[in-house]
Amino acid sequence: MEVIASAPGKTILFGEHSVVYSEPAIAAAVNKRATVRIETSKNNKTTLKSKDLGFEAELDTKNKKYSLKKGKPGIIRYILEALYMAHDHSPINIDLSIDIPIGSGLGSSAAVTVATLAALYRYHNIHFNKKTLAEKAHKVEYLVQGEASPLDTLVSTYGGLIYLNRKKQLQKIRTNFNYPFVIGVTSKYGSTSKMVANVKKLKQKYPKIVNPIIKSMGELTDEAKRAIEAGDVNKVGTLMNINHGLLDSIGVNTKELSRMVYIARGAGAIGSKITGAGGGGSIIALCPNKDSEVSKAISTYDSSFKFRFSRKGVSSKVIHGSSHRKHKKQNNTLKNKHNKHNIKKSNKSVNLSKNKKNSLYKSKSNNQKHKRKNKSKYSEADGVKIDDNKLIFKKKSFKTINNNKIDYSR
Ligand code: MEV
Repeated sequence: MEVIASAPGKTILFGEHSVVYSEPAIAAAVNKRATVRIETSKNNKTTLKSKDLGFEAELDTKNKKYSLKKGKPGIIRYILEALYMAHDHSPINIDLSIDIPIGSGLGSSAAVTVATLAALYRYHNIHFNKKTLAEKAHKVEYLVQGEASPLDTLVSTYGGLIYLNRKKQLQKIRTNFNYPFVIGVTSKYGSTSKMVANVKKLKQKYPKIVNPIIKSMGELTDEAKRAIEAGDVNKVGTLMNINHGLLDSIGVNTKELSRMVYIARGAGAIGSKITGAGGGGSIIALCPNKDSEVSKAISTYDSSFKFRFSRKGVSSKVIHGSSHRKHKKQNNTLKNKHNKHNIKKSNKSVNLSKNKKNSLYKSKSNNQKHKRKNKSKYSEADGVKIDDNKLIFKKKSFKTINNNKIDYSR
């Protein structure tokens, strides 16, 4: 049995840090991805290796421990936490490939977590949808790094250009806005948890000053959404510059980030700002017609790459083997585990119907009938509602593509 799943990194255009205090944010998936391949192990060991990150480890999934054979641990804690949540501890080999720079503010840990969970659900033939997956991935991030907004895992799961509103509801921004961007990455690692904690302290110490800055970031993000929808690229650039100034004022800037921001503007970017948590990591520059110049200028001191938004979110498929038959016993164990985690295994994708009124189904078990429900507290998003600790799937047209592949991107 072998499965593969991948998920994109993301860049935050507007609203980092203020999103932690329920202000809106705008983020986009980028065309850089984490890919996780899982196969049944032929011996009794669970292994994890990544050629791209240069590590090899043996995992003790029951105790969330690992012994490193080669390289540095990096992202392993996210994978261990995901395994603890969605695996039955049977021996597997995990291979991670990734072209998202780690610790660069491009959501590498979220992409790895989303891809790992999607691969595990696919491996165990557990039905999942985007909303559930993003929630579980966010929980993993929370367990590993503490306070975090759901933004990274949402963007990595859904792909595209996303607006997260003040109620933490997600909206896809429908727009033709597709100008070239450049990302500049310093060699200095930026710790999200540390930066979030620093901002919290500053906010507690100077609430009358910092609270309005946070609010202002929220206003700016709403203005930026309207500018993106209207295709007003100059206004988007100006708002990025203002946002950078506000981020500087709350202490997440560094001299390396500043250097890249001003080099980008000098080389023709119409807007440039920190993206992500800051304290190291990355900047993003909006550069219509000037992306090569901006990228080259940033590369004098730091690394850079050009990108455009990517519509593609998480995707997964079975490469060979049938999880359903070969892993029947294993699935029974896992099913109990997943019931604990509010996920129900389903034999097939949820039934399909266009009738909205009767569109909520509770997945009971493989062979039991779905029970109809009419109440819908959360009818938005991807057809799922969590009520009284039960996961209730809304009937919806899944894009089932041939060769066992389901592409969850829209
Ligand atoms: C990190 O990519 C973005 C922050 O807003 C933290 C978060 O949203 O969890 C700084």
